[in-house]
Amino acid sequence: MLKDLVIKNRSYRKFYASFEVKDTLLFDLIDLARICPSAGNLQSLRFMPVWEKPHLDIVFENLRWAAYLSYWDGPAPEQRPSAYILIISPIQTNKYHLTDAGIAAQTILLGATEKGLGGCILGSVNRQKIQEHVGVPEEMEISLVIALGKPAEKVVIEDVTDPEDIEYWRDPDEVHHVPKRSLNDLIIMPMEES
Ligand SMILES: Cc1cc2nc3c(=O)[nH]c(=O)nc-3n(C[C@H](O)[C@H](O)[C@H](O)COP(=O)(O)O)c2cc1C
Repeated sequence: MLKDLVIKNRSYRKFYASFEVKDTLLFDLIDLARICPSAGNLQSLRFMPVWEKPHLDIVFENLRWAAYLSYWDGPAPEQRPSAYILIISPIQTNKYHLTDAGIAAQTILLGATEKGLGGCILGSVNRQKIQEHVGVPEEMEISLVIALGKPAEKVVIEDVTDPEDIEYWRDPDEVHHVPKRSLNDLIIMPMEES
């Protein structure tokens, strides 16, 4: 069921670094993004697969992991992602680029989850540094980075109890908890007709 896949598709930040993600799998995931909705069907996004050193290291060094877990330095070397897909968009302002990028990112992650992998969308990224090293065309910039690999952590979603407290947290067993607001809290019903 789709809902099972969406539940399983959490943000993972610890992986088995020794697990190899093949370039062909990355191309298959990008092929899913290729057929996603796009505003005006412009399809302005571009996608860069990264699965080999030294690019893997450069991308990793320029990501900011889990802002709410301020005590955590991010994945240890043996927990690093095995690959990345960089979602690249034109710098030229178009208010829908980020929307397109979000749709592509979630679709890529769902595809990865279906194949037993997992990942994390990262927007907190030192774009300049990564772009310099991997060679992004001048008129384009990185929108989002998707980290991918074989997850090495347990992530659970649970109901928000205090509406002010939506921060994810880790328990003593290193299980990562993600509070989600209830359906009732999210739905705004239309005004009743008078
Ligand atoms: C647009 C976007 C940007 C994000 N940027 C980061 C990031 O820079 N670093 C990070 O560790 N997680 C990032 N995340 C992951 C979120 O923290 C995560 O989606 C949230 O905690 C909920 O967890 P869940 O994805 O398991 O539901 C980002 C997610 C989205 C959608």
